[in-house]
Amino acid sequence: MQNEYLLSIKNVCKSFAGVTVLKNVCLNIRPGTVHSLMGENGAGKSTLMKCLFGIYKQDAGEFFFQGESFNFTDPKHALENGVSMVHQELNQVTKRTISDNIWLGRYPQKGIFVDEKKMYNDTMDLFKRLNIHLDPRTRLDKLSVSQRQMVEIAKAVSYDAKIIVLDEPTSSLTAHEVSMLFDIMKVLKNEGVGIVYISHKMEEIFEVSDDVTVLRDGSHIGTERIENLTMEKIVNMMVGRDLDNRFPPKTNVPGEVHMSVKNLTTKYKPIVQNAEFELRKGEILGIAGLVGAGRTELVEALFGARTLETGEIYIDGNLIDNSNPHKAINNKFALLTEERRETGIYPVADITFNSCISNIKEYKNKFGLLDDKKMKDDTDVQIKSMRIKTPNRRERIRNLSGGNQQKVIIGRWLLTQPDILLLDEPTRGIDVGAKYEIYQLIIELAKKGKSIIVVSSEMPELLGITNRIMVMSNGRISGTVNTEETTQTEIFNLSTKYLNNNEEAEV
Ligand SMILES: Nc1ncnc2c1ncn2[C@@H]1O[C@H](COP(=O)(O)OP(=O)(O)OP(=O)(O)O)[C@@H](O)[C@H]1O
Ligand SMILES: [Mg+2]
Repeated sequence: MQNEYLLSIKNVCKSFAGVTVLKNVCLNIRPGTVHSLMGENGAGKSTLMKCLFGIYKQDAGEFFFQGESFNFTDPKHALENGVSMVHQELNQVTKRTISDNIWLGRYPQKGIFVDEKKMYNDTMDLFKRLNIHLDPRTRLDKLSVSQRQMVEIAKAVSYDAKIIVLDEPTSSLTAHEVSMLFDIMKVLKNEGVGIVYISHKMEEIFEVSDDVTVLRDGSHIGTERIENLTMEKIVNMMVGRDLDNRFPPKTNVPGEVHMSVKNLTTKYKPIVQNAEFELRKGEILGIAGLVGAGRTELVEALFGARTLETGEIYIDGNLIDNSNPHKAINNKFALLTEERRETGIYPVADITFNSCISNIKEYKNKFGLLDDKKMKDDTDVQIKSMRIKTPNRRERIRNLSGGNQQKVIIGRWLLTQPDILLLDEPTRGIDVGAKYEIYQLIIELAKKGKSIIVVSSEMPELLGITNRIMVMSNGRISGTVNTEETTQTEIFNLSTKYLNNNEEAEV
């Protein structure tokens, strides 16, 4: 009986400055299983895990490891006792090498020196075991976000952990890397490791979980074996009601051509080649494609964040100059970047500042001072319309849950009142309920005549909210389809059209 559970969390409570975030939460992890932890943005998932890991001290409640009570004083203590965690926000020393990052704080010694050779070999062994192909001597700032994520996962595994917490580990991984991670998880499961898995991606939950626990507003709603669950049931537990529709009605009506792009080729790799397309007023145009197809590069090029070799952008028939982001913003473009948490957040500033920063000009009154009231009012509207979960607008953004931070950044760009809105993976990391509200917001903007481009890897999302879908393959546009008339298969075939330089390949 004592060892039925590897980890038991009993009645954990936690509040921040009087706001209750966790209420009597219980969780039991069986050895050799994946236990998924689900819940809306701000439900308390990360906070619960941070209490386990010793980053926060719970106000009440206990943790048991194989029946024995324990309490970690800090993450190092947790690691030494076989509990490791891959965080939602990457926290790495990017100026150091991969192996430095993995062995930080526990370098192998040779006399008084660090044993570099052993460190290198140990890292290679680890990578071999996990099937990761990276050179341990590479500096972290040379890696992509997804590669850095893999390093973080390898580090967690390197501690011989008995319990591994993965907090939204796949949000920036490619499909191939996701399947690699799932393979790693299988190996660990077979070794008896218990894995706590946090993700908003329903398909993944059904693929990897043995058990699922749902939290809502800091309370434990239920725990079930995966075979007793359906997607509808989980959603109902998460939001407390049925969501019959994942997408709001598409009521926008595309009008005249608003932007046309001619012969756009980027100068540096990865290259976008000869992109030519039109975007209509009030239209929502999706961009589909496999990871690496050049979708992000294309929207960055439109926004002046990439140097062009050739190419022209016309707005209402007039040639414009978007050669840097500053000019693009003046031309009423806005770009919500894919890695917004990395690049877009001022962590110690409050929500008001983070919302208004891109639009600060608009808040200067005739004396050149900032109009505090207008900033506050606009921020309150954003908080309300996107249901950002926070005590108030004065909260530091770093204290919001990951998904709620994203919403603030989306709101920031909407406040700039752009005419052309470029959204790169706008709902990544956002829960099902809040996704609906973001879709609604996008459709509302289109109805007001804004033209919108949505890059997304989620096919249902593209089919659900766009008017047309442009597909990219290997840096080129391989086709554009009407959303009403297309199928997932057609889009998939277009996205593989130019792979392996085999232009005629039929897949
Ligand atoms: N250090 C802190 N100070 C104040 N409030 C905090 C702090 N950390 C978390 N919170 C609040 O606790 C609540 C739960 O946050 P948590 O990060 O646990 O949510 P989550 O379930 O992980 O959400 P997401 O899916 O968006 O990552 C949120 O309302 C958040 O604002
Ligand atoms: Mg979280």
